[in-house]
Amino acid sequence: MNDILKDLTHIRELYSETGTVDTIITNEFVSCIYNFFDSNYRNLPWRNTSNAYYVLVSEIMLQQTQVSRVIDKYKEFIKIFPTVHALADADLYDVLSAWQGLGYNRRAKYLWECAQAIVLQYNGLIPHDIMELQKLPGLGKATAASVAIFAYNIPALYIETNVRTVYIYSFLYDTAKVSDSAIASLLQHTMDRLNPRKFYNALMDCGTFIKQHYNASRHSKQYTIQSPFNSSLRKVRGQIIRYLVDKKKAHKEELIMYLDCDRDKIEKALYSLCKEKLVCEDNNIYTISRA
Ligand code: ADE
Repeated sequence: MNDILKDLTHIRELYSETGTVDTIITNEFVSCIYNFFDSNYRNLPWRNTSNAYYVLVSEIMLQQTQVSRVIDKYKEFIKIFPTVHALADADLYDVLSAWQGLGYNRRAKYLWECAQAIVLQYNGLIPHDIMELQKLPGLGKATAASVAIFAYNIPALYIETNVRTVYIYSFLYDTAKVSDSAIASLLQHTMDRLNPRKFYNALMDCGTFIKQHYNASRHSKQYTIQSPFNSSLRKVRGQIIRYLVDKKKAHKEELIMYLDCDRDKIEKALYSLCKEKLVCEDNNIYTISRA
């Protein structure tokens, strides 16, 4: 298992001698990643499908959420909403209900809106084109790329935490504040363009393993720590959605009484949830939005 760390350290030494990612380094790097993958492949449920809708569901669930928390939710979700049409036709209430336990509920609404846009604008087919994918709600550059890669095996540039970890560990170990453009340049040189799906799955597994031994995120410019205020606001928002999913509706005073949080924070959370149309209000009674 630890061999991957030794192998990648060797790559780093080779790279520091030449300063360029030549064919030898590229081939060795890809061999290291694939050797690790051959014996440590994680049989994740979204890896056994080429159904682009399932890939879209998994990639949105995996944004900011650990694989172990996603596995069961993903299986339940695609059982409840087996097709993009089933999801597009559902009520937001049912989508949020299926999402409980994953956090960042806004993603559930984005996924639901994605399904509606795909049915209305793309005849129910998830686009192949990254620019088209990026037009869908909640799909930034990274998730659009990941859907193109994992659904359609398109050699896109996908930069996320596991990818950063592998490249920083292998090439930029002592560098502070590594930019994503530096990672992009290394990816351009080393990506297996003939089999991007396999290549990125291997990076996911290697990155997850390396993280147990080395904290690469501290070296990344993207590394940010959520402020205590934002993280507690996020927690209350989650509690409110869970309460409304359980009880169907609640008066503001009821929420203030039952949630372990002060009035001011609950009001701020309710305001933001209404603004994002996750929740709606009538006479201080709150429910999950219908549209
Ligand atoms: N993180 C984001 N996408 C992923 C994937 N397809 N597999 C594992 N981890 C991921």
